[in-house]
Amino acid sequence: MLSRLGLDAGRPAISDLMRLALARPDLISLAAGFVDQYSLPVHGADEAWRDIMDDAASARSALQYGTTQGDPVLRYALAQRLLAELPETAAIDPATIAERIIVTTGSQQLLYLLAEALVDPGDIVIAEAPTYFVFLDLLAARGARVIGVPIDEGGMCLAHLEALLERLTAEGEIDRVKMIYSVSEHSNPSGLSLAADRRGPLVELARKFGRNHPIYVLDDAAYRGLTFEGPEAPSLWSHDASGDLVIHARTFSKTLSPGVKIGYGVVPQELFPTVLALKGHHDFGSSNLMQRLILKMIESGQYDAQIERVKGVYASKASVVVETLEATLGDLKPAVHWTVPRGGLYVWFSLPEHVRTSRDGEFFAACLEEGVFYVPGEYCFPAAVESGQRDRNRMRLCYGVPPEPILKEGVERLARVVRRTLGA
Ligand SMILES: Cc1ncc(COP(=O)(O)O)c(C=O)c1O
Repeated sequence: MLSRLGLDAGRPAISDLMRLALARPDLISLAAGFVDQYSLPVHGADEAWRDIMDDAASARSALQYGTTQGDPVLRYALAQRLLAELPETAAIDPATIAERIIVTTGSQQLLYLLAEALVDPGDIVIAEAPTYFVFLDLLAARGARVIGVPIDEGGMCLAHLEALLERLTAEGEIDRVKMIYSVSEHSNPSGLSLAADRRGPLVELARKFGRNHPIYVLDDAAYRGLTFEGPEAPSLWSHDASGDLVIHARTFSKTLSPGVKIGYGVVPQELFPTVLALKGHHDFGSSNLMQRLILKMIESGQYDAQIERVKGVYASKASVVVETLEATLGDLKPAVHWTVPRGGLYVWFSLPEHVRTSRDGEFFAACLEEGVFYVPGEYCFPAAVESGQRDRNRMRLCYGVPPEPILKEGVERLARVVRRTLGA
């Protein structure tokens, strides 16, 4: 009955964790990658909504279909904002960037469209290990071979990446490499960003090894804008001066509201018509109304105010997690260790190698008994990892949803299980 794609769709690993959260409301979920409920921009969205609806002409046009590519005024505003992030912008006309922006239904849709546009079964995608597991599931369903490159504190290790690209060249496989995928800012799941001094060299490696066709760099910057303090390094995309290699994927889900479900991508010229055509097949345009809402919030300053607000909320939540881990498990370092986020929503937590954090393992069961759960780290590893393996001793902790006292309690519960497991 089912198509090939339907047969290979599988069941996303995360749906089991979502069911668990619903079935057991007593559990503290450090698993859900949702945003903070209480800082969602109710007032700002209400104001923007009224602004749109108060004027009959603007209301009608917002309630009508828009274009496949996305609202031109919004795209221009996004292009201006992207240019404002670049170190040198004087010579660039925002219109040339706006032309290559496609507004999508969340950045997830852009990831899907790119997989559709580029990846045939057996094609290779290179990704950080660990990486965003929802994209891994999607790529698996398309029959991609995902090869993981180990990370360190500075994100993807370029020496490993280069060795992998050299090996694939020697094996005659380099033409099957379609893209290098990086969750470049405060990654889901590791919480780490690609180091500023690796960004240019990563783009150069892609350029050097792409021979008969480009090896695209997919810069998934979902958490850009959410750096707690100080300026953000220029994006991976900003290192692609010719604009022909890096696809820059952004979303309003984390900085504004996932319920709005709007993202966008800047797409290289050569790829642009294909991605746009596929977007046409999907839905011939993301919600026009939601795009207007975002535009209003950008124009009124509500969007920037919201970013400042949530940055403060997440900075405070991150420090609750890190301080509680330090207080409860600090004496067990380095056998037990964790990343300290400088932005975003995640802490990547590692146990000694012999402890398995798998969904069907004893440690996960003990956590459920204690009343807490997490995303098992193994979900985040591609099937093949260059010079390494799928680690089974790690987990992703997300501090997005639980209020601070619950977060503290959740981490304390987790720490109790860790101490018992290690006999500490
Ligand atoms: C790294 C990363 N990319 C993309 C997405 C997709 O989000 P959305 O489709 O809501 O923009 C997410 C969501 O969690 C994410 O973590």
